[in-house]
Amino acid sequence: MNASKFPKITTHVLQEMKLKEEKISMLTCYDYSMARIIDESGIDVILVGDSAANVMAGHKTTLPITLNEMIYHAGSVMRAVERALVVVDLPFGTYQGNSREALNSAIRIMKESNANAVKLEGGREIRESIDRILSAGIPVMGHLGLTPQSINKFGTYVVRARDQEEASRLKEDAKLLEEIGCFAVVLEKIPAKLAEEVTQNIKIPTIGIGAGSAVDGQVLVIHDMLGINQDFSPRFLRRYHNLHEEMKGAVKLYIKDVKSLNFPNEREQY
Ligand code: KIV
Repeated sequence: MNASKFPKITTHVLQEMKLKEEKISMLTCYDYSMARIIDESGIDVILVGDSAANVMAGHKTTLPITLNEMIYHAGSVMRAVERALVVVDLPFGTYQGNSREALNSAIRIMKESNANAVKLEGGREIRESIDRILSAGIPVMGHLGLTPQSINKFGTYVVRARDQEEASRLKEDAKLLEEIGCFAVVLEKIPAKLAEEVTQNIKIPTIGIGAGSAVDGQVLVIHDMLGINQDFSPRFLRRYHNLHEEMKGAVKLYIKDVKSLNFPNEREQY
């Protein structure tokens, strides 16, 4: 199947998918070559996540990545993608507490990378920033539950909203994001029952990661699901390949061929 012959995925298509109960597939991606493969495979949504800070740059948290770096990754992905909806994370420190700065950050992403939408972590506390970005006609995806940009507040990456108080707050925040006009919301690492309740209570699609199966779609980090990154093994992660081992095997073969003068051969030279 050449997925790029199919119509471009828009926020309206995602809404229709929720209505038709068709699950939404989403993966992260940060570069041109990988984006071509993922888009041609028929993925619905590509997230240029700030997890680039971890898997592309080797940082321990997502906090260090800059707006310029996110724009670089987003532009690389956009040059490859024909069909998927491309959503870009606003990085830490570019939208919290200052809605004008939030709007400027979102506009820079849209103008300089040509992306389709932005994602922000948080609920009521960033309402003003979301409102302002939406008022400029920029689609916004929300993100609730485990929000990695707040790791220094949480102190740990354990499951969120297990207690009644945090669960109620999350449900209210999801409703708020729907009401103010977000087109979808990511639910990260929360109990499956709570994710199901949220999904039934709001009309916009929910995309889960570690949030069970009763959400409207699923997202994984591409390096994790392909088994490139072996350091991260949460319960929710399904590995579809072991690229770490496959790539190492190929590199070892290449080294052996170079050392033994087996590469290049007669046909591989001019
Ligand atoms: O940055 C990211 O990869 C994300 C996903 C985990 C949802 O926000």
